[in-house]
Amino acid sequence: MQATARAHTNIALIKYWGKRDEELFLPTNSNLSITLDRFFTTTSVVFDRTLTSDQFFLNGKLASGEETAKIARLLDIIRKMGGKDIYAKVDSDNQVPTAAGFASSASGFAALAAAATKAIGLDVDEKTLSIIARQGSGSACRSIYGGYVEWQKGEKEDGSDCYAKQILEEDAWDLSILSVLLESKQKKVLSREGMKRTVDTSVFYDGWLKTVEQDLQVAKAAIADRDFIRLGEVLEKNALKMHATTLGADPPFMYWQSATFDVMYEVQALREAGIHAYFTIDAGPNVKVICRPEDEQAVKEAMLKIPTVQDVFICHPGPGITYITE
Ligand code: ADP
Ligand code: DP6
Repeated sequence: MQATARAHTNIALIKYWGKRDEELFLPTNSNLSITLDRFFTTTSVVFDRTLTSDQFFLNGKLASGEETAKIARLLDIIRKMGGKDIYAKVDSDNQVPTAAGFASSASGFAALAAAATKAIGLDVDEKTLSIIARQGSGSACRSIYGGYVEWQKGEKEDGSDCYAKQILEEDAWDLSILSVLLESKQKKVLSREGMKRTVDTSVFYDGWLKTVEQDLQVAKAAIADRDFIRLGEVLEKNALKMHATTLGADPPFMYWQSATFDVMYEVQALREAGIHAYFTIDAGPNVKVICRPEDEQAVKEAMLKIPTVQDVFICHPGPGITYITE
């Protein structure tokens, strides 16, 4: 009863920002991401009758009780589906900076869902896997697939129509996604907490809900037409709108730091100089810059000249879940 699976992180171009059901991780809006080739999680799960509780090792170290509780919650769902009441030992390795706004939770829960279902003997399709991964962390439901992925919010209360789908394969359109790592010190408001506070209190949340569906349609059409500029414009606007909602929350909060602005201004300067680059930002200060592959080196060099930039990782569209056999 053992299996190993690998899942890659993803970056949202149209954001998941708000839940309509917190237990089931049902989002208020459909959203869209690209799975990244460079950052991934590899997770091994062994169900073992001799264990008296779940054990979770993250990057070789025994994880905290809080982190173990999060994965145990997902394992409970899988144990129930598999009809087996056995604890598991989970070993997970993140080839991505953990909790640095690089979506380690997305690849982490997608890899866990895949490895644990296989280890317990369930034969699940990708749709079911996406529904399971969603209940570990919403954005994880997109990491089941490679390339360009849409997470459809669904309508049903039980979440059975709320899962992700690939809309374009990873090798169908190459783009460069530069993950810009900044010097950051401030403690962050976790995405889970931030989106809840925004839904509950932000005076700007209505504006988000009124326009996000239109943004998604524009992004999907741009992807279908391989129209980079149209996609870039809408993804940047969508990220700015998401962050604007945090300013209208009570108490208000903001994910950006001064280094975040440095990168945003540099992206604008690049565009003024004729290089088409666009930025997006998740629930943290780090920025991802999206450009055409022929411009990636010039964009990377420009980013590295900013004193507050620590490092730049160039990513491209990457694959979905893979199972690893030893
Ligand atoms: P990030 O931006 O890296 O996703 P989050 O704060 O959203 O940051 O999520 C980090 C949390 O995700 C960790 O505290 C841990 O609970 C969970 N996580 C990270 N890596 C894994 C993993 N490989 N397997 C399971 N859970 C993970
Ligand atoms: C800003 O998937 O981390 O990155 O479902 O509560 O685990 P939970 O939240 P999470 O939120 C991601 C928010 C985001 C936007 C996105 O990835 O779409």
